[in-house]
Amino acid sequence: MQLKGAVCLVTGATSGIGRATAVQLAHAGAQVISLGRDPPGLEEVVAHTSGVGLRADLADPAEVDRAAEEAREAFGRVDVLVNNAGEGFAGSFAEMNPERAERLVRVNLMAPVRLTRALLPGMIERRSGHVVNVASMAGHVGLGGEAVYSATKAALIAFTDSLYYELAGTGVGVSVVSPGVVDTPFFERRGKPYDRSYPRPIPAEPVAEGILRAIRTGKTQVFVPGWGSFPARLRGGLPGLYRSLARRFG
Ligand SMILES: NC(=O)c1ccc[n+]([C@@H]2O[C@H](COP(=O)([O-])OP(=O)(O)OC[C@H]3O[C@@H](n4cnc5c(N)ncnc54)[C@H](OP(=O)(O)O)[C@@H]3O)[C@@H](O)[C@H]2O)c1
Repeated sequence: MQLKGAVCLVTGATSGIGRATAVQLAHAGAQVISLGRDPPGLEEVVAHTSGVGLRADLADPAEVDRAAEEAREAFGRVDVLVNNAGEGFAGSFAEMNPERAERLVRVNLMAPVRLTRALLPGMIERRSGHVVNVASMAGHVGLGGEAVYSATKAALIAFTDSLYYELAGTGVGVSVVSPGVVDTPFFERRGKPYDRSYPRPIPAEPVAEGILRAIRTGKTQVFVPGWGSFPARLRGGLPGLYRSLARRFG
């Protein structure tokens, strides 16, 4: 898909991967609609992208629907939807507050589902458009201490795959981008810093480049960094071996 002149809605554009994506889309000539909650963050990214800002809490379905409507009204259409906003949680599932679990499902899974449902019919009618879902390596392999987070991302991967089949021949593309560990405020916000020495966190920019590549080429699955596809393939092809290696080496 051509990015020049395309109207792109990016969720979670006030920070990290979403901010880098909004900036790169604007550099590519797109008209960017940035969605987030943090007013200074939103103001900053809107100024940087000469775009439009939308404030909405994606944990609230009514706000999600309102945001979709306002995004459509901003330029008369939305050509590209980047479902990037997400929240994390790290800790024992047995001690996890069920409300926190439900919030993760709402923000990480139901908000992308509702936004896609609202904006996809217009793309299909115009026979042009692209939806990118930002998942995680956690969704491909499952991570101890991140059970519900991993489940939301696995669901997003399956949602993307299913849409891929439904959208064949419509002119509309769908991709899932799965980052590894990225140096953003994500870990601080979830309440547990990233404390492993490997893999080393990568900057948000290469992930944003992966998102733009997915839109331009229509590639259905993108891993950033690329080696992330290896554990995913090993987990898919030889799950027993993967589990014993993951338990042994973490
Ligand atoms: N960082 C990593 O290592 C990593 C790895 C794999 C996948 N990912 C995924 O990449 C995506 C972006 O993460 P990031 O690393 O860039 O994290 P980040 O810097 O913490 O950014 C998260 C973004 O999501 C928005 N957001 C969170 N909850 C929201 C809510 N309820 N309503 C509206 N917006 C909300 C935040 O906006 P406000 O603050 O303005 O609300 C912020 O812009 C997430 O889906 C995450 O799961 C991250």
